[in-house]
Amino acid sequence: MSWKARASLLLTLALLVAPGLAGTQAGAARQLEIFSWWTAGGEADGLNAMFEIYKKKFPGVEIINATVAGGAGTNAKAVLKTRMQGGKPPDSFQVHGGAELVDTWVKTGFMEPITSIAQSEGWRNILPKDLIEIVSFQGEMYSVPVNVHRGNVLWYNKKIFDDNKLKAPTTWEEFLKVAETLKAKGIAPLALGDKNKWEAAHLFEDILVATLGPEGYRGLWSGKTSWTGSGVKRALENYAKILPFVNSDHAAGTWDSAAQMLIDGKAAMSIMGDWAAGYFTSKGWKPNVDYGFAPAPGTAGTFVVVTDTFGLPKKAPHREQALNWLRVAGSKEGQEAFNPLKGSICARTDCDRAKFDAYLQSSMADFAKNKLVPSEVHGSAAPEDFATQFNDIVNLFVTRRNVAGTQKALQAACVSAKMCKK
Ligand code: GAL
Repeated sequence: MSWKARASLLLTLALLVAPGLAGTQAGAARQLEIFSWWTAGGEADGLNAMFEIYKKKFPGVEIINATVAGGAGTNAKAVLKTRMQGGKPPDSFQVHGGAELVDTWVKTGFMEPITSIAQSEGWRNILPKDLIEIVSFQGEMYSVPVNVHRGNVLWYNKKIFDDNKLKAPTTWEEFLKVAETLKAKGIAPLALGDKNKWEAAHLFEDILVATLGPEGYRGLWSGKTSWTGSGVKRALENYAKILPFVNSDHAAGTWDSAAQMLIDGKAAMSIMGDWAAGYFTSKGWKPNVDYGFAPAPGTAGTFVVVTDTFGLPKKAPHREQALNWLRVAGSKEGQEAFNPLKGSICARTDCDRAKFDAYLQSSMADFAKNKLVPSEVHGSAAPEDFATQFNDIVNLFVTRRNVAGTQKALQAACVSAKMCKK
């Protein structure tokens, strides 16, 4: 064989072998799969902003954006469970701090502690103690909080309110008056889209906080407040008074379609976590110009905390890349890029306020001085078993409005989830 023929044979062999190599170890080591349910408006924008930072810091890694649509993880959580239990975890996944992380994944042995990276990144000094506590178990940290969302916010279309000389209601009594005025003028008062169930439960959670107060609401999770007592009864009665002001097609909509109703002027108000602010931002809608905001009626002084975090599953296929992802998610740069788009504030305490709009600056101020309570609908206050039943029970209430039956069902759910004694 001539040297030319030998060289060309070698080249052919090399080309045949190379893609094989790239597809195995070398290729596998250069991927990062991040699992979340962030597909709508500001959610997707925020996530992409963090990906961009990752790409800059760790070039050459292919990021697989594994999203499963459906607010609050309606569909994503089931897909994640199948993957985790089947031994096919993503490299890292979105999970709420509190029961959702600890009960579902940590106590069951699916997660690796990330305490040593928390140490080397200095997170213990820069994250609020309350947040560290809800992502920890037996002295080890298991995920890094990337944000703080506020669950109890009333949003309103500013033009509708100004045109009708209305002020944001501060109590549910005021809300009913405002709602009557709007209804009389043919304007839908409250936008709701509860196709995925949790949205109606979210509204009820805010009514529980308003009716029971922060201590009474906390008592639901410590066993001090009874599901069959007069407080929960009043909360359900309040809910029944509010429901007639909700759009009649609510069962066909989602949280973001409800936010869109405000933008389109099809409804005046909505009660939703501040990922709605991220949605408004993604549509060019501005705080204090296009939309107004206030604590959900009756909840001023209380901040319902929703925190998204990322951890490290055991058997993460690209562990090194996953650790780098956690570094980005916990960094000042990562959180400052993510949160202004996502509609949340940094979990870190050292972010630059100037990077945040008027709504988010007000959320920062309230987070620092309000009483903090955990959200049940968004995974922090109670185990998943209870959360799922809570969504079902509240949705049944929305159609049947049976106060006593609902209280009984909530108590039974509390017992079956082992949160209450019989
Ligand atoms: C929450 C989550 C938020 C936002 C919202 C709607 O559970 O914490 O980040 O994504 O659902 O999807």
